Amino acid sequence: MDLFGNNAEIDPQTGGIRLSNGGNKLAQLHPLWIRERVSGPSDFDVISRQRLYEHAELSADLKVSEIKPGQTDTIEVLFSDGYRSQIELNALTQELGWSHNPETPPEPRSWDAKLNKRPEFDWHELETAERMEEMLVSYFTNGYCVMQNTPTDRDSLKVLARRFGYLRETNFGEIFNVETKPNPSDMAYTDVALASHTDNPYRNPVPGIQFLHCLRNEVNGGLSTLVDGIAIAKRLIAESPEQAKVLEDVIVRFRYEGPSAILEHNGPLIERDHQGIIRHIRLSSRLDYVPALDSKTLSLFYAGRRRLHEMSNSSDFQISFPFKPGTLLMMDNYRLLHGRTAFNGQQGHRHLQGCYIDHDGPSSLYRMLSRDGKTTKVLREDD
Ligand SMILES: [Fe+2]
Repeated sequence: MDLFGNNAEIDPQTGGIRLSNGGNKLAQLHPLWIRERVSGPSDFDVISRQRLYEHAELSADLKVSEIKPGQTDTIEVLFSDGYRSQIELNALTQELGWSHNPETPPEPRSWDAKLNKRPEFDWHELETAERMEEMLVSYFTNGYCVMQNTPTDRDSLKVLARRFGYLRETNFGEIFNVETKPNPSDMAYTDVALASHTDNPYRNPVPGIQFLHCLRNEVNGGLSTLVDGIAIAKRLIAESPEQAKVLEDVIVRFRYEGPSAILEHNGPLIERDHQGIIRHIRLSSRLDYVPALDSKTLSLFYAGRRRLHEMSNSSDFQISFPFKPGTLLMMDNYRLLHGRTAFNGQQGHRHLQGCYIDHDGPSSLYRMLSRDGKTTKVLREDD
C-alpha cells in the first residue's frame, strides 16, 4: 500500500508492518513497537508527552489488523485488541534515521591545529535566536566555543553558565577560582604549565561541560590550550589499532584525594557510544591507576597512553589563545582536552573562574530552539 511515497504492508508472520521508502530503506516494525509510537489524543498526556498507559497493559501477542492512509502524512492503524490510532509518518522516518530530525544536535567534526577555526561569538549577540543557534551548532561541531565581552563581576559565571544548563556543584563549590594560591590542592592553582587533560575523571558522573571565565589577566603567557580528543583518538586508531583497542577495553581507576573529599571513578581512556562514535576521552595522567594486567596488555596500554599524551601536547593538534577579561570558554569535557602554558605569577594577577554543567542543557536548548525558533536560554519549570 502506498503511504505518501512510502510502501507499507502488514507482515503476516509477525503481525507488524513492513515499511519501505520505495528505495533502499526497509524496516520490519514489531506490533508493540508500532503501538508505542501511535500518537492519538488518548495515547499521550498533552503536556508531559508521557504515555497514558503502562506497556504491560498491552497484550503480549498484539498484532496490527489494518493500516491505511490517515490525514496528511499519518498512518491509521487498527490493532487486534480493537484499538485504532494514528502514527505520524514524519516522526517514524526520523526515528528510523531515514530523514533528518531537526531536533538532533549536529555530530562532532574532528579538527587539528591546521583545520581549526576558533569559533568565537560576542556574548551580546546571543540574545538573538539566530546567533544562539549558530553558537550551539558551532559548539556541537567543534566541541567548544569562545564568547567575548561577557561581564567580569566576580561570580557572574553562575548567571552566564545557567544560560546553557544547570550548575553541577562539586567539592570545589558551584564555581571554582583558578588563581595562584599558597598550598594549592590542585596544580591549576599554581603558575606552572598544565599538560592537556580532561577534568575530573574521578567523579561519577564525570562533569560534562566546563566553563572557564576570565575576570583579570595581567600576565604574559598563561595561554589556554585545547585539543580535540576525537582527533587524537582517531590518529591512534589509524597508527596502532592494537594500542587503541587496549585503551578502549581497559578500565582505569581515577582517584582524587583532597582536604574535603576522596573521589574514585572508573572508565576507559577512549569510549564510544552505542553507535560506535567516539564520545569520551579520559586523559588525566597524574590521577590514573591502571589495573595489574599482563605485561603484553600493559605494554600496549602504556605505549598508547604515551602516544595520546604526545599528540595532545604537540603543535599538530594543540591550539592556544589568550584569555582576556570577559573571555568565556565553554568546552565539552568528554571530548576536548585543555591545558595552559606557564606564566609568571609575580607579574600580576590572573584570575579565572570555572564551573561545570551537564551535557543535557545545550542539547535541550538546541531542541527547544529548533521547535519554536525563539528560545535563547535554558528554561526552568518555574520560568
Ligand atoms: Fe582542568
